Amino acid sequence: MVAVESLSELRQHVQNARQAGLTIGCVPTMGALHAGHISLVEAAKKETDFVVVTIFVNPTQFGPNEDFSKYPRPLELDLQMCREAGVDVVFHPEVPTVYPAGATTSVEVGGLSSVLEGAFRPGHFRGVATVVLKLFNMVQPDVAFFGQKDFQQQLVIKHMVRDLDVPVRVQTCPTKREADGLAMSSRNVYLSPEERQTSVLLSQALKLAETMVHQGGATPGGIEAAMKKHLETDPRVSIDYAKLVDAHTLADLNRIQSEMVALIAARVGTTRLIDNMLISGHLS
Ligand code: PAJ
Repeated sequence: MVAVESLSELRQHVQNARQAGLTIGCVPTMGALHAGHISLVEAAKKETDFVVVTIFVNPTQFGPNEDFSKYPRPLELDLQMCREAGVDVVFHPEVPTVYPAGATTSVEVGGLSSVLEGAFRPGHFRGVATVVLKLFNMVQPDVAFFGQKDFQQQLVIKHMVRDLDVPVRVQTCPTKREADGLAMSSRNVYLSPEERQTSVLLSQALKLAETMVHQGGATPGGIEAAMKKHLETDPRVSIDYAKLVDAHTLADLNRIQSEMVALIAARVGTTRLIDNMLISGHLS
């Protein structure tokens, strides 16, 4: 495995792989890697010949009062995990490599970017779409791998790729969870032991939504209210949203339909967590 910081080195390695006839897979990350990230690497190794992991804590997707400066950056541990997982190249550029002074161009994916996470984190998906398009242009992968954990993010990226004819296939991989159901996240390290216990409420609320859909008779509004009630059983939780929406458009639902996603964003103490579950209902 090689770890490179400059675009020219990255391009050299990718070009060599291409000339050898290999297909290129890319796993974009912000580092602080965990088993969820590694599951994307494993999918990439299965489907492509040469795997590039990018590690870049992207300043433009953090709001002014968010955790950009304190976001964990354990680079040596990350490189070790990538080495053990059989990654070919880790690209970990500095901020000025990605955003040269005077850069003013950004990518705005309309509609999808303004609801849910986008409503609570204005400008977040502009930052994500911009950096992901740049990373695609830098790496030029055949396939890029994203986690369902960030459900809205993978939808936004798929729309960007379609709308701008970006020559990459975007593959979404399932969410890796801790034994009690908590979705793995780089931000879980912020949780105190008590908050870590409380955090299981998110995946429990999503399972409750699934059970209610499958039992039948409940309305989308009733299911959202039940998720909120479950989350509110612990005063450490404050909810940003708990929604059941269309899995393709993220639009609100009047009734249960076939392809839905339940999405939760909540703070546990001061740590903001997100989780989601795809739920298939009966056409009605
Ligand atoms: P980051 O939060 O580091 O996540 C990198 C990738 O890992 C994303 O596609 C995310 O959905 C996936 N991932 C995170 N937790 C996961 C889990 N428990 N199971 C499976 N996959 C998981 O998402 C970002 O970084 C950034 O927004 C990025 C796309 C890199 C752009 O800056």
